[in-house]
Amino acid sequence: MRTPFVAGNWKMNKSADAAVSFVREIASQLEAIDGIDIAVCPPFVALPGVAAALAGSRVGVGAQNMYYEESGAYTGEISPTMLQGLCRYVILGHSERRALFGETDDGVNKKILAALAHQLTPIVCVGESLAQNEAGETQSFVSGQVRAAFAGLSDWQAAVCVVAYEPIWAIGTGRSATSQQAEDIIRTSVRDVLTDLFGPDTAQAIRIQYGGSVTVDNIAEYMRQPDIDGALVGGASLKSSFVDLVRSAVV
Ligand code: PGA
Repeated sequence: MRTPFVAGNWKMNKSADAAVSFVREIASQLEAIDGIDIAVCPPFVALPGVAAALAGSRVGVGAQNMYYEESGAYTGEISPTMLQGLCRYVILGHSERRALFGETDDGVNKKILAALAHQLTPIVCVGESLAQNEAGETQSFVSGQVRAAFAGLSDWQAAVCVVAYEPIWAIGTGRSATSQQAEDIIRTSVRDVLTDLFGPDTAQAIRIQYGGSVTVDNIAEYMRQPDIDGALVGGASLKSSFVDLVRSAVV
């Protein structure tokens, strides 16, 4: 019922030129993979080149962040108006933005509303730290992040969003959550919370990705779980073997 969705989060990697060469190298192979939505999320300066290289392709393009105001005195920021028409997706509330750049639940919520108002599909990131995980706080923390992120959204706005559950301890560490751990948190702390907020029809329509050390070797495991609809992939999306990873996601 939900089309699987794998997105590559390139983070602060690849120059504009390197980004375009890379998508040219992998685009036709990605194109040939049916039954899955695919996106790449390059750094801002590479967005126009990558978007042009993928024009007319079914491989989507996303930004990694965005501010919520339309324009003005916000040095260093990029607005939803600037992204509208350039890309389809925008990653919001990534744990690196929350931890290193002071992003708050409230700011993430404002960004989600602004993205939706500009026809951008938010990929809303949530996930607990190692300390929270070890203290048994995962469910309450992740549920709280989901409630805060989706505050004030209508049912139809919520249905458009994608959620990425990314335990912080699994990001870039090679220590991925087991597929059962990921499924448990995604079901209890994301899907059930969305059901509570928006009802079962909307909650069943929302795609939820797992993220954190996803590789070509473990993606199929995650995809077999009933509530995991795809992955947000960091390190493994930077190499041409990303094509194999996406292929393995179609089970
Ligand atoms: P990783 O990153 O796949 O390199 O762990 C995932 C992410 O941060 O989105």
